[in-house]
Amino acid sequence: RKKVTINTLRKLYEQGKPITMMTAHDYPTGNWVEKSELDICLVGDSSAMVALGFDSTIPVTMDIMIHHASAVSRAAKTPFLVVDMPFGSYERRPQLGLENAIRLMKEANAEAVKLEGGIEQAGVIEEITQAGIPVMGHIGLTPQKHVMLGGFRVQGKTADKALQLMEDALALQEAGCMGMVLECIPAPIAEYITDQLSIPTIGIGSGSGCSGQVLVMMDTLGIYDKFVPKFCKQFGQLDAPAVEALRSYSDKVKERSFPSREFSYPMSEVEVERFLK
Ligand code: KIV
Ligand code: NA
Repeated sequence: RKKVTINTLRKLYEQGKPITMMTAHDYPTGNWVEKSELDICLVGDSSAMVALGFDSTIPVTMDIMIHHASAVSRAAKTPFLVVDMPFGSYERRPQLGLENAIRLMKEANAEAVKLEGGIEQAGVIEEITQAGIPVMGHIGLTPQKHVMLGGFRVQGKTADKALQLMEDALALQEAGCMGMVLECIPAPIAEYITDQLSIPTIGIGSGSGCSGQVLVMMDTLGIYDKFVPKFCKQFGQLDAPAVEALRSYSDKVKERSFPSREFSYPMSEVEVERFLK
């Protein structure tokens, strides 16, 4: 399969073909994205929750993102690689945002960075894109602002709020974004925003009217067991088989049936004799 570039994504968008995006946070999950021929691999700061066990994305640092993203990049070579900018690494500080975006390119092999927020982040986005780094926006439910938003909940349910989202989307496009994630926005609004833009929207919990879709892998595979968002279909149930396999290993060791002969290294009788003498 050919490397997915920003041109590939542009072509999919222009042809009206859905863009597929999936998160990964380490080498094996990056490898699964590579093997399943997805278009975009996102190293999301959701790894704070699904890979590190934090309650939110707030504690994640640049160093943590680079740790995860560089591992993913060693496996997911074909998909377009987008890496999240963590909380505190860019907000309304164009110079800081640019420096950190550059770090994600140099130290984590990012091909684009993603950051959360609307019109108030236009300055940062301009600074980064003008340095030649593609930026993906992210509006609607922006988990880094869950405190201000009063929780992880759907956004833009009133006409006024929806209008603000439309203005944010246009501002992100104007600032130079290559596309944007629409998270937990009512389906009719996400579809309307998508129709008004000339760059792709990637939906999560925002209906089928977006240019593409993204989900968090640990939710998609049924591995993260703290909660499952309403919008997330579990396309697999991998937690149970993993636990089953590990229990089976434990049982076999306890009953001394593992490792059997086939999993051990033999030695010739002659050498064993010599050794025992
Ligand atoms: O961090 C993440 O996984 C994300 C996606 C949910 C879009 O930002
Ligand atoms: Na994120």
